[in-house]
Amino acid sequence: MIILNKDRKFPDNMVNAHTLLLKAKRGEKGNSKSTRYAVPAFNVTTFQGINAVIKACELLGSSGLLAFSNSALKHIGDGDQTFALELLSGYIEKKAHRTSVKIATHLDHGDYITEPGRKVLQSSIRYLTSVMADNSTDHINKRAMPLKDNIDLTREVVNMAHPLGLSVEGELGVLAGEEDEDTKSEFSTYTNADELEQFLNETGVLMLAPTIGTMHGPNKGKPGQKVKLNIALAHELLGLANKINDELVFVAHGASTLYPNIVEYAVDKLKMLKNTNGVITKWQEFVGTDWDQIESLIEAGFCKINTDTENRQTFLSALLGAITGNGAKIDIRYYDNISTDALTQSYIQKLIMSGNYGVWHEPKINVEKFKFNLNQGVGEVIHAAS
Ligand code: 13P
Repeated sequence: MIILNKDRKFPDNMVNAHTLLLKAKRGEKGNSKSTRYAVPAFNVTTFQGINAVIKACELLGSSGLLAFSNSALKHIGDGDQTFALELLSGYIEKKAHRTSVKIATHLDHGDYITEPGRKVLQSSIRYLTSVMADNSTDHINKRAMPLKDNIDLTREVVNMAHPLGLSVEGELGVLAGEEDEDTKSEFSTYTNADELEQFLNETGVLMLAPTIGTMHGPNKGKPGQKVKLNIALAHELLGLANKINDELVFVAHGASTLYPNIVEYAVDKLKMLKNTNGVITKWQEFVGTDWDQIESLIEAGFCKINTDTENRQTFLSALLGAITGNGAKIDIRYYDNISTDALTQSYIQKLIMSGNYGVWHEPKINVEKFKFNLNQGVGEVIHAAS
């Protein structure tokens, strides 16, 4: 098994994701020990998103984990993912040099199955600090990948990444839902506990995404019904994994919750526009994973919670507010500032909820007093919590 090279030095303040997650699993903050917390992996698709994540982490002294999907890379690189990675790594390294926290960059749902997938993974190993090798689904034949193939493909990635100090996340089981055009599945399977030991021992991954009932996207269940995760399975899998290696960390995909105040805000703004009944219904039918379920996972020992959809919803709500508030403002910065402020608030909120603050320095605000409010800019909200 190829051991993770812990001596690799990344540029200033950059680390691999596993370093941040192990700290969270052990409840390490500064020089002291607290209760276990989680590091949200925020999916970002723009430089605006990167700025907002770093700002939120700096304010709270949090560990920062920036995740990029294949389609985010296509978007940033105008179709060329390798070019996107080159641009992003340069930008993030320069920002990280000036921060007071530690930051990891992670490829989300990379696959080593297809030729294009392999190319993106290889480039990511060159430019990022952590990668996901998601070989759990055979997207061509729409079925779960046979265990042996998932193991063989994931081990190949570990063999390339670990010697260079990059952590690798594997996936066992199939997660349903649509993260974006490149990551979707109409079916799901729970992780099979009997396969876990073999997968972990034979791949050597230190980060694992098991499937215990979470889903990608904005429709994680039926409106009015609570999303129920298989928490008992989560405990069983973690118990088994900890016996193999207590440095193993678990990852919850599809961890977005839904903020009722964001839905209310968007619906309110949409009502000011014509012919939006259908869109309003869609907003009202969004279902996130209930936070108490994610909290149970964190208590069980999951320490990376993948969070995308709720931030997209916040972004869109803020934009609707900007357009209905002053849609004749001919200034890109106006819309950019409003939506970046909203994203920053969304990230601050989730970092506080997951206990990821005060890790690298004391928070610069009173976390108890922080109130997420789209009617105010981030400056005002921060001032009110000072
Ligand atoms: P959400 O769709 O719940 O935000 O999950 C994102 C995710 O799991 C990315 O890998």
